[in-house]
Amino acid sequence: MRDLDSLGIRFKDGELYILDQQLLPHNEDLILVKDVDHMVEIIQMLKVRGAPAIGISAGLALAKFSKGIDERDKVRAMALKLRASRPTAVNLMVVIDRMLAHLKEENFHQFFEEEAVKAFEEDVELCDKMAEYGAELIQDGDGILTHCNTGRLVTAGVGTALGVIFKAHEQGKKIHVYVDETRPLLQGARLTAWELEQAGIPYSIITDSMAAHMMKTGKVQKIFIGSDRVALNGDFANKIGTYSLSVLAKYHNIPFYPVAPYTTIDFECETGDGIPIEEREAYEVRGVRGSFGDVCWAPANAPVRNPAFDVSPVDNVTAFICDKGVFTQEMLKNGALKNL
Ligand code: MRU
Repeated sequence: MRDLDSLGIRFKDGELYILDQQLLPHNEDLILVKDVDHMVEIIQMLKVRGAPAIGISAGLALAKFSKGIDERDKVRAMALKLRASRPTAVNLMVVIDRMLAHLKEENFHQFFEEEAVKAFEEDVELCDKMAEYGAELIQDGDGILTHCNTGRLVTAGVGTALGVIFKAHEQGKKIHVYVDETRPLLQGARLTAWELEQAGIPYSIITDSMAAHMMKTGKVQKIFIGSDRVALNGDFANKIGTYSLSVLAKYHNIPFYPVAPYTTIDFECETGDGIPIEEREAYEVRGVRGSFGDVCWAPANAPVRNPAFDVSPVDNVTAFICDKGVFTQEMLKNGALKNL
């Protein structure tokens, strides 16, 4: 398979490397992926994370580690293990299912490689298209609020929501980005801040609980966020905390834009009620782990709830920015995604 290179995922000389997102921004460590179980662990620990990146890295791992294995049952088991590694972001299922559809072919290994490379290369183009569409909506002087991390780390290209922000900056628009820290895993404070800093875009980190105040005091003109799964009616799942932002946006009359490629649309899922929500381990809420160590501030065995995602209803969406175009709430409600 040929070499592929993005900020978070590299395929070089037949080896697959993942930039460890748990250690960013202070350490930039590349992990050499050893086998399918290792890839599953890397995905589950959020060393690679974000909807497109999970799908792309799982696809590359399947192509690489199934090479030379002719027993189809074994290959299918590898694929299903990867497919089940995280439940909410649908891109993972999309990539693995595209590959599995070739399993009956005689030369399925060749198809696997082609699909894995295609998932990577296609994503670069999809990001560019979303960035173009989204940046049109940004005006000079806008304050923009974003949540979680949606940039180069989570795609093969420029990102989803953050790609839009990069593009507006490239166009010379003066913007200021308010970055939700994004508890519990702090993807905003650790990763989005790092990416914005590298791009030279002015930003301020805020704790999630400050978002309402920023909106009320007129600092935020637009909200751009990513998505892990979009239902056909326009409801969508994203990092926990997105739903409350959508409610606040509606209350304060601030445009609220989810940004995602068509590979994040679940064409089997009619409404947000059908989206599975991952529940993660308690230690993530009792404290924090990273390059700085392991801190627990709560009672060691404190009971915890830790849903990693929530669903925002289409009623709170101003427009969905996709590589296929910009779909207003009205278009979404009229079934625009069903006819893609
Ligand atoms: O749990 P994570 O860090 O994988 O969640 C990621 C997000 O929720 C992103 O906002 C989402 O994937 C959209 S950006 C591609």
